[in-house]
Amino acid sequence: MTQDTGPDDGGDPERGGEVRPVTGDAPQVLSGAEAPAVRHLVSIDDVSIEEMHALFRLADRFASDPRAFADTCPGFISASLFYEPSTRTRLSFESAMLRLGGGVLTAAEMTSSSVVKGESLADTIRVVGGGYADAIVLRHPSEGAARLAARYSPVPVINAGDGSLEHPTQTLCDLYNLHVERGKIEGLDVVLAGDLKYSRTVHSFAYALARFGANIVCVPQAGLELPDYVVERLHEEFQVEPMRADARRLGNLASNSDAVYLTPQKPHQLSLFTDARGWEVQSVDAVYMTRPQTERHSGSELTDTTYLRLEKRAMAAESLRDAVVMHPLPRRDEISDEVDADPRSIYFKQAARGVPIRMAILSWLLGRVPLESAGEPHGQQASYGVPMGPNPCPNPSCISRTETRHAEPRFTILEREPLRVACAYCTRELSHAVIGCSRSRIFHAPEAGTIRLILPEHLVFFEDEEAALGAGFRPAASLAGH
Ligand code: CP
Repeated sequence: MTQDTGPDDGGDPERGGEVRPVTGDAPQVLSGAEAPAVRHLVSIDDVSIEEMHALFRLADRFASDPRAFADTCPGFISASLFYEPSTRTRLSFESAMLRLGGGVLTAAEMTSSSVVKGESLADTIRVVGGGYADAIVLRHPSEGAARLAARYSPVPVINAGDGSLEHPTQTLCDLYNLHVERGKIEGLDVVLAGDLKYSRTVHSFAYALARFGANIVCVPQAGLELPDYVVERLHEEFQVEPMRADARRLGNLASNSDAVYLTPQKPHQLSLFTDARGWEVQSVDAVYMTRPQTERHSGSELTDTTYLRLEKRAMAAESLRDAVVMHPLPRRDEISDEVDADPRSIYFKQAARGVPIRMAILSWLLGRVPLESAGEPHGQQASYGVPMGPNPCPNPSCISRTETRHAEPRFTILEREPLRVACAYCTRELSHAVIGCSRSRIFHAPEAGTIRLILPEHLVFFEDEEAALGAGFRPAASLAGH
């Protein structure tokens, strides 16, 4: 869970007033004094497995009688700041807040806000979080925007989608649906189909499924495969092994797609079950279809082939007999209307369950309802500012590329020796030809053992030796003789 108070050292806003208990089968409500420090929901990694289970239980209670909990967040306000269009995420959050007895502020069309006058995201967040609202629900086209916002916000920031990076509350909604429909997530076989390259819902969902120990069958649209950085993160963090999948039993759905099986099991176990065709997909528990994310395409992605389509005929495939069909929506043509009547289609129920799960998220992050179990958030890492030099992040969609005044380059350490670092906003791994120390003004080859002696806050990254020399750095003795 992100707890970096950022440049503002914000602290909790005042929460005046006595809290009345909620009615019905009521979750325990915390008084202001008991409320924990501000927590943000930027990545699905910010929520532990135990917290997810507790959120599902809380959502079950909210879903049982959504009108019975209006005393949970009286006087609290959430602000929806949407720099991109939305129907479900914004309206389900606002419905959730209203059902909890709170109020909402909506900036659904940020082009009618002071953004058009040049106001930065960081300043907008400081203003809205500085007294207007008790929580901020943010959707933004730049990757890492929610991470930046969390650094400047004194109130919880909830990532409602940042570029192609993550959409953690959609993932909590998707996991909640699996929990309701299947009774568990551990060990399920889930097909992710469609645009796996640009779909942020797919990326957050894949990280969470791997953490739960579920198996993923990727059925990508040709050219829109799961990006390498997502596969590498799945491998590094969850020991997920990608392998070719024999998806004949998926029928039409996979007939024009190179399916890949991603399993958190160890390779030696895989070797017991595979042959030259790859892992044979048997019966799957869920198919998660996604639309082409054309708003993020360069233009050439879909010219040669027609997009995957789930039709009545495809639903007859042997492997899908017991599968639920999910979709984060909106859909275009990738699920035909005739499939809506199939009892396995749950995508409209899935969207409806967005309200109780977001009621659970809001009441938890606002400090109004404690979760029964906490657990450790996954992989919380310290981040460090780059003391000088150009922004080393290579990702043109990273917030550090556009919000240059407030998103100063920062990195996290993936591995100390040899040094591997990632952008602290968009999580993309940084590449660098040489590494310098801002104190000694000496630069080293990236594999040099001496780099481990440099304090993280003194690390500087150069794309080549010339750039390091141009910045007034000297080569280390090991480089000087080259
Ligand atoms: N699933 C989803 O994020 O939908 P919206 O874009 O309508 O919010």
